[in-house]
Amino acid sequence: MKIHYIAHIFILSFAIATSFESGYYRQALRYLAEIPDDSYRGSPLYNNDNIDDNLYIPNYNSTLKDYDGRQIRHVPEIITKKVLPLLETAAAENDQMAMITLADIYTFGNYSVTVDYPKALQYYHKAVENTGNGHAYFMLGFMYSTGMFGEIDADDSKAIMYYQFGMENGDSNSIMALAYRHYYGIGTPENCELAMHYYSRLAHFGYDMIQKNIGDVDKGLRYNIKIVDFNGGLYGNKLSESANSIFSRTRRHNKDKEEFLEFFDIDDHQYINFYQNAITHYSGDYFLPKNYTRAFEYIQDCVGLGEQMYGSSNYHRINEIDSTFLSHCQALLGHMYLTGEGVPKNYDKAMKWLRNSIVVARNSEALIDLGEVYENGLGNESINTSMALSIYREAGETSALGKLKQAKLLMSMSPENDPRKGKFAKDIYSSIKKATFSGSTEGLYYFTEFLQSGLASQIEPERAVTCPGTTICYKVFVEKLEHIFLPQLSYAFEELIYGNFKNALLGYSMAAEQGLENAQISTAYLLYQLQPILSTRAEKSFDHERVSASVRYLERASQQDNVDATLLLGDMFLNGLHNTLEKDNDRAFNYYMRAAVSLKSSYGAYKVGNMYEYGLGPVNDSVDYFMAKRYYDLSIDIKKNLEDKTSKSSNKTPINWALLRLRLKYVFNRKQFKNQEESSGSSGWFNAFKKISNAGKQANEGTDRASDRARAHHEGGDFLRDDEFEEYDIGDYLVIFLTFMFFVVFFIQNVIRQARRMRQGNNVPNEEQQNQNGWNFRFNFNGIGAAARAGNFEFHFFAI
Ligand SMILES: *[C@@H]1O[C@H](CO)[C@@H](O)[C@H](O)[C@H]1NC(C)=O
Ligand SMILES: *[C@@H]1O[C@H](CO)[C@@H](O)[C@H](O)[C@H]1NC(C)=O
Ligand SMILES: *[C@@H]1O[C@H](CO)[C@@H](O)[C@H](O)[C@H]1NC(C)=O
Ligand SMILES: *[C@@H]1O[C@H](CO)[C@@H](O)[C@H](O)[C@H]1NC(C)=O
Ligand SMILES: *[C@@H]1O[C@H](CO)[C@@H](O)[C@H](O)[C@H]1NC(C)=O
Ligand SMILES: *[C@@H]1O[C@H](CO)[C@@H](O)[C@H](O)[C@H]1NC(C)=O
Repeated sequence: MKIHYIAHIFILSFAIATSFESGYYRQALRYLAEIPDDSYRGSPLYNNDNIDDNLYIPNYNSTLKDYDGRQIRHVPEIITKKVLPLLETAAAENDQMAMITLADIYTFGNYSVTVDYPKALQYYHKAVENTGNGHAYFMLGFMYSTGMFGEIDADDSKAIMYYQFGMENGDSNSIMALAYRHYYGIGTPENCELAMHYYSRLAHFGYDMIQKNIGDVDKGLRYNIKIVDFNGGLYGNKLSESANSIFSRTRRHNKDKEEFLEFFDIDDHQYINFYQNAITHYSGDYFLPKNYTRAFEYIQDCVGLGEQMYGSSNYHRINEIDSTFLSHCQALLGHMYLTGEGVPKNYDKAMKWLRNSIVVARNSEALIDLGEVYENGLGNESINTSMALSIYREAGETSALGKLKQAKLLMSMSPENDPRKGKFAKDIYSSIKKATFSGSTEGLYYFTEFLQSGLASQIEPERAVTCPGTTICYKVFVEKLEHIFLPQLSYAFEELIYGNFKNALLGYSMAAEQGLENAQISTAYLLYQLQPILSTRAEKSFDHERVSASVRYLERASQQDNVDATLLLGDMFLNGLHNTLEKDNDRAFNYYMRAAVSLKSSYGAYKVGNMYEYGLGPVNDSVDYFMAKRYYDLSIDIKKNLEDKTSKSSNKTPINWALLRLRLKYVFNRKQFKNQEESSGSSGWFNAFKKISNAGKQANEGTDRASDRARAHHEGGDFLRDDEFEEYDIGDYLVIFLTFMFFVVFFIQNVIRQARRMRQGNNVPNEEQQNQNGWNFRFNFNGIGAAARAGNFEFHFFAI
């Protein structure tokens, strides 16, 4: 019972003392223990090879109350014949645990049981009639908060009430949900102090847990992902501005290998292959369970090859690439002997390989392990703190973990374990700060504690300690301890790859309610996906309830500064959705504005400019070319800044075209510009023209006009049409004509160039393809996109 094991720790004694367990319940548990893991599951729908750009969420069928194509799953007979009847008998006798177990099974669909939310709700209610239970309260709160997306009546005040009860019963899920709601003021007044109190309570508990469980929390796999990142993000590959959330070792290695292969022959560097295979099996991956035995085999091959080639003393002859990877292999082998992972513990062998690793390349992981040996006096070594400290110091130069270890050792040497006292205060603080900024989760906890205890301001007086700042630190820390606080995330992922989208939605929406930005995106995506225009699949239909729930989660993610969510909201409100979402230019404008100004999105600025240019949204729908120009310029500036930072070139064509279009409009229509300055510009032929074209557009409104850009990339496809074309005016047509001419010339040129290249038999990877930046997909100027894809070029028409 992963979900409530925290709750159990909190209320264990309480629960035992108050709940009465019947023999039926115990009998049912005995049957459950007999069922072998996963025996009832088929094979997964997705695996490492087929999930990329291929994740497809089927249509939701509201009669079926599930996604289409759900497989009728086999429920083990022991469940239907024995366990459920026993639990029901126990529940009838008021056994609280039996009621909660039943409710869980009907909510989570354990053992392939078909979920039944209304039934589960009843059991949770019945379970807390006489005695409180943190987990049951949380589930009630969650169910009322979401309404289970249309299956029960949502009621936000009940939700908050039950979260409150859950919190009073020590349930960590409820505490997190309340902390999040108080921080952002969702359904309750904003209250930072209270949010900080709740988050810090969780943080202290989580910290105590990781101290007991030695190991690096940053090494584990993270399930806090945006599932849409498997399709390249909300806006597809290269277009999405939010960072990819999926860190997979397998993918990283494959990518590294490709790059490596451009320069070297991998067969000359066997160590790399061995090491990468070893570390993948050692750490596990989304589709690959950990296997220490297998990792050990690879690592032995790696180290053995090193022995064979260099003996144990000729390491100075080794080249730099090989020494790095051989040293990694030796460090991992030493580590496995030290910790007894995949092989019996053996300090002698551990020391031998750790020392070798340091001789070969002063590997920071080996240094850290060696430091630990001296710090704790493992094996034959006696405790030697000064030795450990100097080793950690060296490791800390390249490793966040090294810095953290150094700081922790210094803390333990401070009087009364108080880092503020004693001569190390400054050293401790700066090490922790560096570790934190290099991504150490545990470091973040100490850093936040230092902010609270005043150590931070003692050393950095200029560092402002604010409630929101501290709260966010605690929030991030807590959310990173997902194996303790958020097992629903791995549940959701597991259900997703087996194609149980409804259960996946449950898991992600639980985490979304608790304030995880990535889970909010995943939830929004499971509820509503824009569709590519050219698709071989049947069109999906969405009901109002699910679309507005999707918008709600996108808004929450946007509130947490998610760029893609903000842009998508803009696109959704700009275009509206047939029958389910009213067009709302003002809202669209506000989202684009937020994306442009607060979140520094180039596309956001472009859209703001566009709305000004066409008089959509701002200031009573009046056209304002001057503001349009300002935001187009801003859009270009943001792109340029990004280029400077990443030193990657990007395509600014669409913005430059928009600027050119404005210029031409100015040349052909000075009068309109003048009117603009004098009045708000509600008269003149220009507006009349616009009105006509708008009227035409509204007549077409019958069809679903969601943004093509988003539609396509939401599901990983391409698109070829842009409805906004209808909105163009005289200036646009001129530009389009010129564009067309230009591209004809350009295209012919390009064909000639390609032909020449082919004649030369040049098979250097097409650089143009790689430099492509998604703008041409984003701003599809009817065919220009296709032509632009043929080559990488940039216009600078500012001179006109
Ligand atoms: C059902 O699955 C959930 C989610 O994984 C888990 O927390 C719960 O303990 C399971 N219940 C039973 C009875 O196996
Ligand atoms: C939903 O499922 C029911 C029952 O299988 C089926 O009859 C109906 O056609 C489905 N509706 C849609 C819109 O696919
Ligand atoms: C782990 O790897 C070993 C050796 O390759 C293999 O025999 C074993 O079946 C694997 N274990 C699992 C659980 O896959
Ligand atoms: C540790 O001590 C044992 C027994 O005294 C000895 O056999 C072994 O070689 C020592 N190991 C190291 C690394 O010195
Ligand atoms: C600890 O190690 C240092 C450096 O190797 C050495 O000089 C010192 O004597 C050692 N101290 C103890 C107590 O063994
Ligand atoms: C927008 O229109 C409303 C109603 O027509 C008017 O009261 C308001 O002053 C206008 N706002 C601006 C900024 O023009």
